[in-house]
Amino acid sequence: MKTPAHIAVTGAAGQISYALLFRLIAGDLLGDDHPIVLHLLEIPEAMAGLDGVRMELIDCASPLLHDIVISDDPYVAFENVDLAFLIGAKPRGPGMERKDLLRVNADIFAIQGRALNVAAKRSVKTLVVGNPANTNALIAQHNAPDLPSENFAAMTRLDHNRAVSQLALHCGCSVNDIKRVIIWGNHSTTQYPDLHHALVRGKPALDQIEWDWYEKEFIPTVQNRGAVVIQKRGKSSAASAANAALEHMRNWLFGTPAGDWTSMTVLSDGSYDITPGLMFSYPVEIENAKYRVVQNLETSEFSRERLKITEAELLAEREEVRHLLR
Ligand code: NAI
Repeated sequence: MKTPAHIAVTGAAGQISYALLFRLIAGDLLGDDHPIVLHLLEIPEAMAGLDGVRMELIDCASPLLHDIVISDDPYVAFENVDLAFLIGAKPRGPGMERKDLLRVNADIFAIQGRALNVAAKRSVKTLVVGNPANTNALIAQHNAPDLPSENFAAMTRLDHNRAVSQLALHCGCSVNDIKRVIIWGNHSTTQYPDLHHALVRGKPALDQIEWDWYEKEFIPTVQNRGAVVIQKRGKSSAASAANAALEHMRNWLFGTPAGDWTSMTVLSDGSYDITPGLMFSYPVEIENAKYRVVQNLETSEFSRERLKITEAELLAEREEVRHLLR
Protein backbone atom coordinates (compact mmCIF):
# COMPACT_ATOMS: atom_id res chain seq x y z
CA MET A 1 0.00 0.00 0.00
CA LYS A 2 1.32 3.46 -0.88
CA THR A 3 1.82 6.16 1.76
CA PRO A 4 -1.31 8.33 1.92
CA ALA A 5 -1.19 11.59 -0.04
CA HIS A 6 -2.26 14.61 1.98
CA ILE A 7 -4.48 16.87 -0.11
CA ALA A 8 -5.73 20.27 1.06
CA VAL A 9 -8.91 21.73 -0.38
CA THR A 10 -10.05 25.22 0.65
CA GLY A 11 -13.61 26.44 0.28
CA ALA A 12 -14.38 22.81 0.95
CA ALA A 13 -18.09 23.40 1.60
CA GLY A 14 -18.49 25.29 -1.68
CA GLN A 15 -19.84 24.02 -4.96
CA ILE A 16 -16.57 23.33 -6.84
CA SER A 17 -15.24 21.37 -3.89
CA TYR A 18 -18.47 19.40 -3.73
CA ALA A 19 -17.75 18.23 -7.27
CA LEU A 20 -14.03 17.66 -6.63
CA LEU A 21 -13.85 15.82 -3.31
CA PHE A 22 -15.85 12.77 -4.34
CA ARG A 23 -13.70 12.34 -7.43
CA LEU A 24 -10.54 12.54 -5.34
CA ILE A 25 -11.70 9.71 -3.09
CA ALA A 26 -12.73 7.70 -6.16
CA GLY A 27 -9.08 7.72 -7.28
CA ASP A 28 -9.58 10.04 -10.26
CA LEU A 29 -6.40 11.98 -9.46
CA LEU A 30 -3.88 9.54 -8.05
CA GLY A 31 -5.30 6.19 -9.12
CA ASP A 32 -7.21 3.51 -7.26
CA ASP A 33 -4.21 2.26 -5.27
CA HIS A 34 -3.27 5.53 -3.57
CA PRO A 35 -4.87 6.35 -0.20
CA ILE A 36 -5.73 9.95 0.55
CA VAL A 37 -5.97 12.12 3.63
CA LEU A 38 -8.24 15.11 2.94
CA HIS A 39 -7.44 18.41 4.67
CA LEU A 40 -10.53 20.60 4.36
CA LEU A 41 -10.47 24.32 5.13
CA GLU A 42 -13.48 26.60 5.53
CA ILE A 43 -14.42 29.81 7.27
CA PRO A 44 -16.10 29.50 10.71
CA GLU A 45 -19.60 30.28 9.31
CA ALA A 46 -19.36 27.34 6.90
CA MET A 47 -18.06 24.71 9.34
CA ALA A 48 -21.51 23.16 9.89
CA GLY A 49 -21.96 22.74 6.15
CA LEU A 50 -18.46 21.31 5.93
CA ASP A 51 -19.33 18.78 8.60
CA GLY A 52 -22.20 17.64 6.37
CA VAL A 53 -19.75 17.19 3.49
CA ARG A 54 -17.46 15.23 5.80
CA MET A 55 -20.36 12.92 6.69
CA GLU A 56 -21.13 12.31 3.02
CA LEU A 57 -17.47 11.55 2.30
CA ILE A 58 -17.51 8.98 5.09
CA ASP A 59 -20.79 7.57 3.75
CA CYS A 60 -19.03 6.67 0.48
CA ALA A 61 -17.04 4.00 2.39
CA SER A 62 -14.19 4.70 -0.03
CA PRO A 63 -11.27 2.30 0.46
CA LEU A 64 -8.98 5.19 -0.54
CA LEU A 65 -10.14 7.66 2.09
CA HIS A 66 -7.64 7.22 4.90
CA ASP A 67 -8.62 10.21 7.05
CA ILE A 68 -10.26 13.65 7.00
CA VAL A 69 -8.95 16.74 8.79
CA ILE A 70 -11.37 19.68 8.94
CA SER A 71 -10.44 23.12 10.20
CA ASP A 72 -11.06 26.85 9.89
CA ASP A 73 -7.36 27.49 10.59
CA PRO A 74 -5.10 27.32 7.52
CA TYR A 75 -2.06 26.44 9.68
CA VAL A 76 -3.90 23.31 10.84
CA ALA A 77 -5.45 22.47 7.48
CA PHE A 78 -2.16 22.79 5.57
CA GLU A 79 -0.02 20.77 7.94
CA ASN A 80 2.19 18.42 5.94
CA VAL A 81 0.12 18.61 2.76
CA ASP A 82 1.51 17.36 -0.57
CA LEU A 83 -1.05 19.08 -2.77
CA ALA A 84 -3.22 22.14 -2.21
CA PHE A 85 -6.30 23.18 -4.16
CA LEU A 86 -7.00 26.80 -3.15
CA ILE A 87 -10.62 27.11 -4.22
CA GLY A 88 -12.24 29.11 -1.41
CA ALA A 89 -12.81 32.77 -2.14
CA LYS A 90 -15.50 35.37 -1.58
CA PRO A 91 -17.95 35.76 -4.46
CA ARG A 92 -18.68 39.24 -5.76
CA GLY A 93 -21.48 40.75 -3.64
CA PRO A 94 -24.11 43.35 -4.65
CA GLY A 95 -22.54 46.71 -5.52
CA MET A 96 -19.03 45.30 -5.27
CA GLU A 97 -16.57 46.34 -7.94
CA ARG A 98 -13.90 44.03 -9.37
CA LYS A 99 -11.35 46.10 -7.43
CA ASP A 100 -13.18 45.45 -4.11
CA LEU A 101 -13.31 41.74 -4.90
CA LEU A 102 -9.61 41.76 -5.65
CA ARG A 103 -8.84 43.39 -2.28
CA VAL A 104 -11.04 41.08 -0.19
CA ASN A 105 -9.68 37.95 -1.81
CA ALA A 106 -6.11 39.21 -1.86
CA ASP A 107 -5.99 39.11 1.94
CA ILE A 108 -7.26 35.50 1.98
CA PHE A 109 -4.45 34.38 -0.33
CA ALA A 110 -1.78 36.28 1.59
CA ILE A 111 -2.83 34.50 4.79
CA GLN A 112 -3.00 31.12 3.07
CA GLY A 113 0.38 31.64 1.36
CA ARG A 114 1.95 32.34 4.77
CA ALA A 115 0.32 29.25 6.25
CA LEU A 116 1.55 27.05 3.39
CA ASN A 117 5.02 28.49 3.87
CA VAL A 118 5.07 27.33 7.47
CA ALA A 119 2.96 24.20 7.53
CA ALA A 120 2.99 22.39 4.16
CA LYS A 121 5.55 19.90 2.81
CA ARG A 122 8.40 21.72 1.07
CA SER A 123 7.39 20.03 -2.18
CA VAL A 124 3.71 21.06 -2.00
CA LYS A 125 2.13 21.81 -5.36
CA THR A 126 -0.45 24.58 -5.05
CA LEU A 127 -3.18 25.24 -7.59
CA VAL A 128 -5.20 28.44 -7.17
CA VAL A 129 -8.75 28.26 -8.52
CA GLY A 130 -10.46 31.05 -6.51
CA ASN A 131 -10.83 34.28 -8.47
CA PRO A 132 -9.12 36.46 -9.53
CA ALA A 133 -7.04 33.30 -9.85
CA ASN A 134 -3.86 34.61 -11.50
CA THR A 135 -3.36 37.46 -9.04
CA ASN A 136 -4.40 35.36 -6.04
CA ALA A 137 -1.74 32.81 -7.05
CA LEU A 138 0.83 35.60 -7.29
CA ILE A 139 -0.04 36.75 -3.76
CA ALA A 140 0.09 33.22 -2.33
CA GLN A 141 3.46 32.62 -3.98
CA HIS A 142 4.95 35.90 -2.69
CA ASN A 143 3.81 35.04 0.82
CA ALA A 144 5.46 31.63 0.72
CA PRO A 145 9.10 32.59 0.09
CA ASP A 146 10.47 29.30 1.45
CA LEU A 147 8.60 27.19 -1.10
CA PRO A 148 9.74 26.80 -4.73
CA SER A 149 8.02 29.44 -6.84
CA GLU A 150 7.48 26.92 -9.65
CA ASN A 151 5.17 24.97 -7.33
CA PHE A 152 2.49 27.67 -7.56
CA ALA A 153 0.03 27.79 -10.43
CA ALA A 154 -3.41 29.15 -11.23
CA MET A 155 -6.10 27.47 -13.23
CA THR A 156 -6.75 28.25 -16.89
CA ARG A 157 -7.42 24.61 -17.67
CA LEU A 158 -11.18 25.14 -17.75
CA ASP A 159 -10.69 27.79 -20.45
CA HIS A 160 -8.37 25.39 -22.28
CA ASN A 161 -10.94 22.59 -22.13
CA ARG A 162 -13.69 24.94 -23.31
CA ALA A 163 -11.53 25.93 -26.30
CA VAL A 164 -10.79 22.30 -27.19
CA SER A 165 -14.49 21.38 -27.05
CA GLN A 166 -15.65 24.38 -29.09
CA LEU A 167 -13.13 23.61 -31.81
CA ALA A 168 -14.05 19.93 -31.88
CA LEU A 169 -17.77 20.77 -32.11
CA HIS A 170 -17.15 23.20 -34.97
CA CYS A 171 -14.96 20.74 -36.89
CA GLY A 172 -17.30 17.79 -36.25
CA CYS A 173 -14.49 15.72 -34.73
CA SER A 174 -13.63 14.22 -31.39
CA VAL A 175 -11.72 16.17 -28.74
CA ASN A 176 -9.07 13.46 -29.20
CA ASP A 177 -8.38 14.93 -32.65
CA ILE A 178 -7.53 18.37 -31.22
CA LYS A 179 -4.01 19.23 -30.07
CA ARG A 180 -1.96 22.28 -29.09
CA VAL A 181 -4.66 24.80 -28.23
CA ILE A 182 -3.38 27.68 -26.07
CA ILE A 183 -4.95 29.98 -23.52
CA TRP A 184 -2.66 32.95 -22.93
CA GLY A 185 -2.85 35.43 -20.07
CA ASN A 186 -5.47 36.08 -17.44
CA HIS A 187 -8.39 33.85 -16.40
CA SER A 188 -10.80 36.64 -17.34
CA THR A 189 -12.45 37.96 -20.48
CA THR A 190 -9.09 39.35 -21.67
CA GLN A 191 -7.65 35.83 -21.98
CA TYR A 192 -6.49 34.99 -25.49
CA PRO A 193 -7.59 31.59 -26.81
CA ASP A 194 -5.07 30.98 -29.60
CA LEU A 195 -5.50 28.49 -32.45
CA HIS A 196 -2.42 29.51 -34.50
CA HIS A 197 -0.55 26.38 -33.41
CA ALA A 198 -3.56 24.11 -32.91
CA LEU A 199 -3.91 20.90 -34.89
CA VAL A 200 -7.13 19.24 -35.97
CA ARG A 201 -6.61 15.63 -37.03
CA GLY A 202 -2.86 16.38 -37.23
CA LYS A 203 -3.19 19.38 -39.60
CA PRO A 204 -3.18 23.12 -38.83
CA ALA A 205 -6.53 24.19 -37.39
CA LEU A 206 -6.50 27.57 -39.11
CA ASP A 207 -6.38 25.85 -42.54
CA GLN A 208 -9.59 24.04 -41.66
CA ILE A 209 -11.73 26.80 -40.15
CA GLU A 210 -12.83 30.22 -41.37
CA TRP A 211 -10.90 33.15 -39.89
CA ASP A 212 -14.21 34.98 -39.29
CA TRP A 213 -15.48 32.14 -37.12
CA TYR A 214 -12.19 32.06 -35.23
CA GLU A 215 -12.09 35.80 -34.53
CA LYS A 216 -15.78 36.63 -34.14
CA GLU A 217 -17.24 33.49 -32.62
CA PHE A 218 -14.63 31.16 -31.17
CA ILE A 219 -12.59 33.72 -29.22
CA PRO A 220 -15.57 35.54 -27.60
CA THR A 221 -17.36 32.25 -26.90
CA VAL A 222 -14.41 30.91 -24.92
CA GLN A 223 -13.76 34.27 -23.21
CA ASN A 224 -17.39 34.63 -22.09
CA ARG A 225 -18.32 31.00 -21.47
CA GLY A 226 -18.19 31.37 -17.68
CA ALA A 227 -20.64 34.31 -17.70
CA VAL A 228 -23.08 32.45 -19.99
CA VAL A 229 -23.03 29.40 -17.68
CA ILE A 230 -23.87 31.74 -14.77
CA GLN A 231 -26.77 33.25 -16.76
CA LYS A 232 -28.23 29.82 -17.52
CA ARG A 233 -27.52 27.97 -14.29
CA GLY A 234 -27.80 30.87 -11.87
CA LYS A 235 -24.49 29.69 -10.40
CA SER A 236 -20.96 29.62 -11.72
CA SER A 237 -19.38 26.59 -13.38
CA ALA A 238 -18.67 23.99 -10.75
CA ALA A 239 -18.41 20.42 -12.06
CA SER A 240 -16.44 21.53 -15.14
CA ALA A 241 -14.20 23.65 -12.90
CA ALA A 242 -13.59 20.71 -10.56
CA ASN A 243 -12.85 18.50 -13.57
CA ALA A 244 -10.37 21.07 -14.87
CA ALA A 245 -8.66 21.33 -11.47
CA LEU A 246 -8.29 17.57 -11.38
CA GLU A 247 -6.89 17.42 -14.92
CA HIS A 248 -4.51 20.31 -14.23
CA MET A 249 -3.13 18.54 -11.16
CA ARG A 250 -3.00 15.15 -12.90
CA ASN A 251 -0.93 16.55 -15.77
CA TRP A 252 1.31 18.42 -13.32
CA LEU A 253 2.05 15.19 -11.46
CA PHE A 254 2.12 12.69 -14.30
CA GLY A 255 2.98 14.75 -17.40
CA THR A 256 1.39 15.94 -20.63
CA PRO A 257 0.90 13.44 -23.48
CA ALA A 258 3.55 13.29 -26.22
CA GLY A 259 2.80 15.72 -29.05
CA ASP A 260 0.50 17.89 -27.01
CA TRP A 261 0.67 20.52 -24.31
CA THR A 262 -1.74 22.16 -21.90
CA SER A 263 -2.39 25.70 -20.69
CA MET A 264 -1.32 26.56 -17.18
CA THR A 265 -0.90 29.84 -15.35
CA VAL A 266 2.64 30.04 -14.02
CA LEU A 267 5.18 32.68 -13.07
CA SER A 268 6.39 34.44 -16.20
CA ASP A 269 10.13 34.26 -16.80
CA GLY A 270 9.78 36.83 -19.56
CA SER A 271 8.88 34.27 -22.23
CA TYR A 272 6.98 35.78 -25.16
CA ASP A 273 7.91 39.26 -24.02
CA ILE A 274 5.60 39.14 -21.00
CA THR A 275 6.69 41.04 -17.87
CA PRO A 276 8.67 38.62 -15.70
CA GLY A 277 7.05 37.82 -12.37
CA LEU A 278 3.43 37.98 -13.53
CA MET A 279 1.25 34.89 -13.15
CA PHE A 280 0.47 34.34 -16.83
CA SER A 281 -1.19 31.47 -18.67
CA TYR A 282 1.19 29.81 -21.12
CA PRO A 283 1.37 26.61 -23.14
CA VAL A 284 3.37 24.15 -21.03
CA GLU A 285 4.76 20.67 -21.40
CA ILE A 286 5.23 18.65 -18.23
CA GLU A 287 7.68 15.86 -17.52
CA ASN A 288 8.80 14.39 -14.19
CA ALA A 289 6.29 16.64 -12.41
CA LYS A 290 8.01 19.82 -13.70
CA TYR A 291 6.49 22.17 -16.25
CA ARG A 292 8.35 23.92 -19.03
CA VAL A 293 6.87 26.83 -20.99
CA VAL A 294 6.82 25.84 -24.67
CA GLN A 295 9.34 28.09 -26.41
CA ASN A 296 9.84 29.59 -29.86
CA LEU A 297 6.24 29.58 -31.07
CA GLU A 298 5.73 32.24 -33.68
CA THR A 299 3.31 34.95 -32.62
CA SER A 300 1.46 36.92 -35.29
CA GLU A 301 0.68 40.62 -35.01
CA PHE A 302 -2.90 39.59 -34.14
CA SER A 303 -1.64 37.40 -31.30
CA ARG A 304 0.87 39.93 -29.98
CA GLU A 305 -1.86 42.58 -29.66
CA ARG A 306 -3.98 40.21 -27.62
CA LEU A 307 -1.08 39.13 -25.42
CA LYS A 308 -0.47 42.78 -24.57
CA ILE A 309 -4.15 43.39 -23.67
CA THR A 310 -4.28 40.53 -21.17
CA GLU A 311 -0.81 41.39 -19.81
CA ALA A 312 -1.97 45.00 -19.20
CA GLU A 313 -4.92 43.72 -17.16
CA LEU A 314 -2.64 41.55 -15.03
CA LEU A 315 -0.23 44.46 -14.48
CA ALA A 316 -3.15 46.61 -13.28
CA GLU A 317 -4.33 43.83 -10.94
CA ARG A 318 -0.80 43.52 -9.56
CA GLU A 319 -0.74 47.25 -8.78
CA GLU A 320 -3.91 46.85 -6.70
CA VAL A 321 -2.29 44.23 -4.45
CA ARG A 322 1.27 45.49 -4.41
CA HIS A 323 1.18 45.97 -0.61
CA LEU A 324 0.85 42.18 -0.25
CA LEU A 325 3.81 41.33 -2.50
CA ARG A 326 7.41 41.08 -1.50
P1 NAI B 1 -18.76 28.85 -3.57
O1 NAI B 1 -19.20 30.21 -3.15
O2 NAI B 1 -19.76 27.78 -3.81
O3 NAI B 1 -17.71 28.28 -2.51
C1 NAI B 1 -16.67 29.06 -2.04
C2 NAI B 1 -16.37 28.57 -0.63
O4 NAI B 1 -15.20 29.23 -0.19
C3 NAI B 1 -17.49 28.91 0.36
O5 NAI B 1 -17.92 27.73 1.01
C4 NAI B 1 -16.82 29.88 1.34
O6 NAI B 1 -17.28 29.71 2.68
C5 NAI B 1 -15.36 29.47 1.20
N1 NAI B 1 -14.39 30.48 1.62
C6 NAI B 1 -14.50 31.83 1.54
N2 NAI B 1 -13.44 32.41 2.13
C7 NAI B 1 -12.64 31.40 2.55
C8 NAI B 1 -11.40 31.37 3.24
N3 NAI B 1 -10.79 32.49 3.63
N4 NAI B 1 -10.87 30.16 3.54
C9 NAI B 1 -11.50 29.03 3.19
N5 NAI B 1 -12.69 29.00 2.55
C10 NAI B 1 -13.25 30.17 2.24
O7 NAI B 1 -17.84 29.09 -4.86
P2 NAI B 1 -17.39 28.06 -5.98
O8 NAI B 1 -18.42 28.02 -7.04
O9 NAI B 1 -16.97 26.79 -5.34
O10 NAI B 1 -16.15 28.85 -6.60
C11 NAI B 1 -14.99 29.06 -5.84
C12 NAI B 1 -14.06 30.04 -6.54
O11 NAI B 1 -13.62 29.50 -7.77
C13 NAI B 1 -14.71 31.38 -6.90
O12 NAI B 1 -13.78 32.42 -6.64
C14 NAI B 1 -14.95 31.27 -8.39
O13 NAI B 1 -15.01 32.54 -9.01
C15 NAI B 1 -13.72 30.48 -8.79
N6 NAI B 1 -13.79 29.82 -10.10
C16 NAI B 1 -12.62 29.75 -10.82
C17 NAI B 1 -12.58 29.12 -12.03
C18 NAI B 1 -11.30 29.07 -12.82
O14 NAI B 1 -11.36 28.57 -13.96
N7 NAI B 1 -10.15 29.49 -12.32
C19 NAI B 1 -13.78 28.51 -12.61
C20 NAI B 1 -14.94 28.59 -11.77
C21 NAI B 1 -14.94 29.26 -10.56
